[in-house]
Amino acid sequence: MRIIVVNNYEEMSRKAADMMASQVILKPDSVLGLATGSTPLGMYKELVDRYEKEGLDFSKVTTFNLDEYYGITRENTQSYYYYMRNNLFKHINIDLQKTNIPNGSAESIEKECEEYEERIKKAGGIDIQVLGIGSNGHIGFNEPDINFEAETHLVNLDEETIKANSRFFNSKEDVPVKAISMGIKTIMQSKKIILLANGEGKAEAIYETVKGKINPNTPASILQLHNDVTIILDKNAASKIQ
Ligand code: PGA
Repeated sequence: MRIIVVNNYEEMSRKAADMMASQVILKPDSVLGLATGSTPLGMYKELVDRYEKEGLDFSKVTTFNLDEYYGITRENTQSYYYYMRNNLFKHINIDLQKTNIPNGSAESIEKECEEYEERIKKAGGIDIQVLGIGSNGHIGFNEPDINFEAETHLVNLDEETIKANSRFFNSKEDVPVKAISMGIKTIMQSKKIILLANGEGKAEAIYETVKGKINPNTPASILQLHNDVTIILDKNAASKIQ
């Protein structure tokens, strides 16, 4: 694991954007694995900036998002589909046909999950996967006690995740309790991984991920077994490992 500690959120976002931009420059038809949540917002802003100012070209890129809430439609402003449109896709020259997000309101979730895996394989696998981390150590929506061998599947969200994500909803009761998520196996098959974390609230999860034993209680700890992981942290998220 390569660990980069920077001063603040802005620096973390710039470094992450540097890595993503380099990937796209070196391989214009890269397959990017994308994440949602608060953490990668700054990175997306940076990438939009580089598209506008430097002409960073996304036209040949394919993307796969990590997860989507179960039971909400794409039009719902809380969906990750909506998030990706608004925070990245509509601002760059990406071909929307090449963007992939699990469909949380698919008729058959089992079929949706199988097809999602198939699509990733057909695209040649993920070249670089961006991850945030939950304060409980989850990656994607792979909550503690996860089966490390899982591929894309329907998950029950952890109480801690529901509480954390309620900040985006009117009330805790409105937060979906299930989601479709790439599994740990899917994530581990990515060629490169970048994990981003900022803020004190992530310090313990980062400690367990980097220094702890590999165990399903901290799903991100499995990343110790991947041979190309870069973790970019602000000072606060790194406070327990330094
Ligand atoms: P956050 O979520 O970026 O909103 O903190 C990260 C996660 O839950 O994976």
